[in-house]
Amino acid sequence: MMGLFDLVQTLTSPHPLDRYLELVRPTLTLHDMRAEVTHVRRSVPGSVTLTLRPTRQWSGHRAGQYVQIGVLIDGVKHTRCYSPVNAQGRRDRHIELTVKAHSRGLVSRYLYRNAAPGMVVDLAPAAGTFALPDLRPDRILLISGGSGITPVLSMLRTLAEENFAGTVAFLHYATMPEAVPHREELEAIAQRHRNFHIELRYPSRGVGERIAAPVPAVAPAGTGPEPGAPWSCAAPAIPVGRFDYDTLERVAPWFAAGETFVCGPPSLMESVRRIYEAEGLGDRVHSEEFTLSTTPVDPSDVTGTTIFSASGVSAANAGASLLEQAESAGLTPEYGCRMGICFSCTAVRRSGCTRDLRTGELDSDPDQPIQLCISAAVGDTDIEI
Ligand SMILES: Cc1cc2nc3c(=O)[nH]c(=O)nc-3n(C[C@H](O)[C@H](O)[C@H](O)COP(=O)(O)OP(=O)(O)OC[C@H]3O[C@@H](n4cnc5c(N)ncnc54)[C@H](O)[C@@H]3O)c2cc1C
Ligand code: FES
Repeated sequence: MMGLFDLVQTLTSPHPLDRYLELVRPTLTLHDMRAEVTHVRRSVPGSVTLTLRPTRQWSGHRAGQYVQIGVLIDGVKHTRCYSPVNAQGRRDRHIELTVKAHSRGLVSRYLYRNAAPGMVVDLAPAAGTFALPDLRPDRILLISGGSGITPVLSMLRTLAEENFAGTVAFLHYATMPEAVPHREELEAIAQRHRNFHIELRYPSRGVGERIAAPVPAVAPAGTGPEPGAPWSCAAPAIPVGRFDYDTLERVAPWFAAGETFVCGPPSLMESVRRIYEAEGLGDRVHSEEFTLSTTPVDPSDVTGTTIFSASGVSAANAGASLLEQAESAGLTPEYGCRMGICFSCTAVRRSGCTRDLRTGELDSDPDQPIQLCISAAVGDTDIEI
């Protein structure tokens, strides 16, 4: 069969066969993977959940991994990463993505406003090392904040579907109860799996909710509901704040013997890491970031001029990533993840030195491809965009 495809491909050269097939139907492709939106739900204010039916090339994801989708906006394809929120190994092969609309975000706002059944997006295979290990640990702690819920919810749903017999604790931080996506499903999981402990916390309101209480709760006398009963937001049993050691000990007293998976805002990730490292348990915590974490910048590196030679534009080095520097100079280089994952921002450094914002490493080999989003100039630099 592939021989026939190869022959047709040769006959249709110079354009790939997919360029002709997509004229018939955008999801009729030989090589390119795409996905069609089949359902759209906007059940939580400010976010949208899309169900996607991928083309036959899709080989699934491991709970926690992300995919890249390419969305056409005003004739330009924009690539972004999203972590499927569905359990891995879904029988109908569909993918579910929950996208939070960022106030200034291009793709997330576009999807929030415009996604509808029939929309077709480009899709890249699932990737990322943040994933449930194939050999499931006996005790698993999942922590998330805001839109970081997506990869850990996929883990929770996977464990629930597998009827995981070990111990699971899931702790999610949100601004308010109405902002928690997939809440009904969390409640259903909690009802069905008494070994799953699920807590939602709203630190800005100082309250929390326990959706499942497999172990009788120990609340100070007279401060809350009966042990084991769900907490109520209106009358919290225990005031809650930001993540700290006491929270960890109470939600998962076994944390030192388990594996912890965390995804959320940098402050939450930092708190979790700091506590685990102080306990000598740094290797027990696995994290996923949606935004770039950078190493401190040495002010003596922030010198010189950056020349964007293909555009004839130059700017004083401000120490920001070359992507941000280019954008500030009025250029619009392509980008996707803005954190070194997708390579859409790759450009050639003709000359000069750049620093990797994640590791602090310097590199000055001429004519090398670099990722603009994770590189900053050190002195005079020529970038070919
Ligand atoms: C591994 C991974 C998984 C992810 N999973 C999810 C998920 O499941 N759900 C989810 O909602 N999100 C997820 N994200 C985040 C998602 O990929 C997008 O970053 C998010 O949707 C915002 O995209 P956007 O196009 O709306 O925003 P963008 O338009 O890309 O803007 C994002 C931010 O970039 C900066 N920026 C943009 N343009 C400029 C400019 N011209 N100059 C300076 N700064 C600028 C701004 O700070 C802006 O707030 C994930 C990210 C990663 C890396
Ligand atoms: S934008 Fe994804 S690697 Fe730079």
